[in-house]
Formats: sequence, C-alpha cells, structure tokens
Amino acid sequence: MNRPQQQFDDLIAADERIEPRDWMPEGYRRTLIRQMAQHAHSEIIGMQPEANWITRAPSLRRKAILIAKVQDEAGHGLYLYAAAETLGVRREDLLDALHTGRQRYSSIFNYPTLTWADVGAIGWLVDGAAIVNQVPICRSSYGPYARAMVRICKEESFHQRQGFELLHTLAHGTPEQHAMAQDAVDRWWWPSLMMFGPPDAESTHGEQSMAWKIKRHSNDELRQRFVDMTVPQASALGLSLPDPSLRFEAGHWVYGEIDWDEFAQVLAGNGPCNRQRLEHRRAAHDDGAWVREAADAYAAKHEAAA
Ligand code: 3HC
Repeated sequence: MNRPQQQFDDLIAADERIEPRDWMPEGYRRTLIRQMAQHAHSEIIGMQPEANWITRAPSLRRKAILIAKVQDEAGHGLYLYAAAETLGVRREDLLDALHTGRQRYSSIFNYPTLTWADVGAIGWLVDGAAIVNQVPICRSSYGPYARAMVRICKEESFHQRQGFELLHTLAHGTPEQHAMAQDAVDRWWWPSLMMFGPPDAESTHGEQSMAWKIKRHSNDELRQRFVDMTVPQASALGLSLPDPSLRFEAGHWVYGEIDWDEFAQVLAGNGPCNRQRLEHRRAAHDDGAWVREAADAYAAKHEAAA
C-alpha cells in the first residue's frame, strides 16, 4: 500500500481529523463534496417552506423568532458551502448542480406549509431530526465539516425548542388550535422519518461513509434514535402521532411501515413542491446576479490597486 494511503488509513483508524491539505483518496473527497453540498443545498432550500409564513406570523414575537430561524438556515448553508470549498470545488458550480438537478436537497423540503402550525411541526420534527442526524457529524473525520457542524447544532437546538413551544401553545389553546397542531404533526411525521435516508439495506453510500467516519451511524440507527426521542415529546405536547403500529418494545419505540414509494417519488422530483422550490431558488439566484457582479467588480478593482 502506498505511504499516503497508509497515513490516511492510520488517521481514520485513530479517530483523527483529515484536513484540507492532507492526502485523501479521491472517493473520500467526492463523497464529502456530494454530502456537504447536498447538506448546504438543503439548508438554503429549507428557508422556503417557513419563509412562507414570515409575513403571516400571528404576533411580532413569533415573527421575530421565525425571521431569526430562517436567517440561521441561510448561515448554515454558507458555512457548509465554505467547508465544501476547502475540497477544491467552487460554490457557483455547486449551486449550478443544484439548479440543474444534478445534486439533491433533502426530501423534507418538498412538502407544503399549509397552516401556521406547520412552522411548529417543522421546528419540532424537522429540526429535531436534523439535530439527531447532525450531532454525530460534529465527530466526522473531515475537519472543516465537523467544525461547521458545532455551531450549526447549537443553533438547531434553538430551532427545535421554538417549534416545540409553538406547538405546545397551540395544542393547549382552543379546540381549533389543537386541531391545527394535530393536522400539522399528522402531515410532517412520516416525511421527517424519511429525512434519515433509505433503509440501511438500500443505502448506496452508507457503508463506505461509515468506514471513512464521514457518517458515524447508519440511517436506520439515527431514525430509531429520533423516534425514541420524539414519541415521549408528543405526549408532553398532548398530540398523537399518525402511526397506529407505534408500540414500546425492548427499550425502543417500534414504528410502522414507511412509504418508500412516496420517498422515491419525492427524490424523483414528483413531490408536492419540488418544481416550485427549484423555480423559486433559480429565480432568487438570477435576481441576485447584480450583487455578485458588484462584489466581483469591487474585488477586481482592489486587486488591481493592490
Ligand atoms: N432527501 C434527498 N435525498 C436523499 C435523502 C433525503 N432525505 N436521503 C438519502 N438521499 C439520497 C442520497 O443523497 C443518495 O443519493 P445520491 O447518491 O444522488 O447523493 C441516495 O438517496 C442514497 O442514500 P444514502 O443513504 O446512500 O446517502 P447518504 O449516505 O448520503 O445518506 C443522508 C443520506 C442521511 C441525508 C446523509 O447524506 C447525511 O447525513 N447528510 C447530512 C445531513 C443532511 O444533509 N441533512 C439534510 C437536511 S438539512 C436540515 O434538516 C436543515 C435543518 O436546519 C432543518
């Protein structure tokens, strides 16, 4: 085995960090670019569902919280694009891959936000799932990715708490408010379980990503961890979960069958909001071209003057 490969293997085996200037196998680099770019794409597309409710928030307090959260997601995207650029890729190329459908974003953001309670369900369930998925990435073998995750996870905790509190307020409000909260949880529960990816047996990258310690746990392990954490929270909210099969067995909450056909349809671009999300993203990118041109002109002028 060549010496750089041996050094890389020794670092991974010793749970050390791989840094941008270290030698790394091309497959490791490509897997990181794929996962980090898609993670970043998910963050910026993820702004759309909740932003839909900023102008219609029921109070100034709720509006301020929601604005702060949506701004955080934009920041998470920037941290992750910056971390991905340490692998020698250009942000504009990653965005082009998103805009042309060559790279993905999380399935969860292809569902509509039909009522104000959806903002709570997203915070509690989607950001709750994101925390379960992202905390282990703080120990990912690639230094820039792991470090980006530390701050992102801290901010996700605020996102999850504000969602839980919003739902708790509705669930303990009028019967109409309780019904609104229950309807939102019914619509977001199963898509939140799908966020963790396909079953381990169908995970294309899982085994290798775990061997490289990019991922620390499998899709099913993290999904189960999320279910075990969330079921007790639902009863604290006074809301039920839309799974009649849910039962506590041998220390875990056993859940029902996930509709993997629905998951496949969403990944194929046939989810409720896929087209709308990408159209909005492309339009926002085009509308922002003048800002990028101005920044490039400013940089060029100052480089010339230097
Ligand atoms: N949505 C869209 N595509 C998905 C998916 C999902 N929920 N789950 C899996 N896929 C895709 C994979 O990208 C892969 O396709 P590709 O080869 O074209 O990339 C294919 O399905 C097979 O899945 P694998 O299990 O083999 O893929 P991974 O090993 O990459 O596991 C993952 C998928 C668990 C999402 C992993 O990539 C991961 O942990 N990513 C980092 C976290 C992340 O991206 N989270 C997305 C949400 S961000 C978020 O929630 C923000 C918060 O603020 C709300």
